Amino acid sequence: MIITSGTASEVLGIKVAREMKLLKSKMEIKRFPDGEKYVRVLDSVEGEEVAVIQSFYRTPDEFLFEYFLIVDALRGSNAKRIVAVFPYFAYARQDERFKPGEALSLESVIKLIESVGTDEVYTIDMHLHRVSDIGKAFNVPAYNLTAIPEIAKYIKKNIELKDPVVLGPDEESEQWAKVAAKQLDSRYDILEKKRLSAEQIEIKPRSLDVKGKDVVLIDDMISTGGTLAEAIKIIRKEGARSVVAACSHAVLVENAYTRIFEAGADYLVSTDTVPSPVSYVSVAGLIADALTKRLAQRKRD
Ligand code: R5P
Repeated sequence: MIITSGTASEVLGIKVAREMKLLKSKMEIKRFPDGEKYVRVLDSVEGEEVAVIQSFYRTPDEFLFEYFLIVDALRGSNAKRIVAVFPYFAYARQDERFKPGEALSLESVIKLIESVGTDEVYTIDMHLHRVSDIGKAFNVPAYNLTAIPEIAKYIKKNIELKDPVVLGPDEESEQWAKVAAKQLDSRYDILEKKRLSAEQIEIKPRSLDVKGKDVVLIDDMISTGGTLAEAIKIIRKEGARSVVAACSHAVLVENAYTRIFEAGADYLVSTDTVPSPVSYVSVAGLIADALTKRLAQRKRD
């Protein structure tokens, strides 16, 4: 197997290749003066299985389109098999037509990814709500990995927590709160969230007992920071001793980073699925393990 990446995940690509002791194939990716992208594979990939690592953060359309060109370049250079690794997978929100006339973005993006010649897909803590199994959404084999145990291990090792309790800001986050709580040997609970618009949400406390506790607040992603900031304010009001905010994908648009601390967080911890000032936990090992296990399994089959 050969590892390569698009411009969204260059450093992560290097780390995965290093973990797996594999070659990281070089790409020339630039723009024509009119803004069009240009992609060229610089190493031989003939007859090889190639894992392409590319996240879809902040400018998802650009990184997605770049992925299509990378696959075309690899296929044109006779790569045998393409394994896509999308550490942060955008376009998962619109997995239904909520209002008449809306695009069903998730389905369209999946169709495009498959149609360019992707043989297998890996994502990490994908924003799966109504679609619970990514394997059912794709026609090619697709797997959703989780970085939550690694995040929880990092928190346990690096932050002093006396009496931790894990909280998720909404119903969907229960899956991640449960996993983090197991790792931290603590209880977990969730808050009640109502989304009023893409920017506005309302969070209500449940029967919370966080007085004097070190709260670890966990979610899949921080975009505007609205969800976690509201949750942090409530937790602080209820008398928490400290608050660690954590997520897999620190998308952090606009002033989200400041917003989290202004709301009362003591720490913010995330991974490098999206490069950010709080990407303390690398998902390189997680990706390398998954690819290695799959390679071994395919050899056995
Ligand atoms: C929502 O269901 C997600 O799990 C996150 O809570 C949400 O996407 C975070 O977005 P924001 O930071 O803009 O509130």
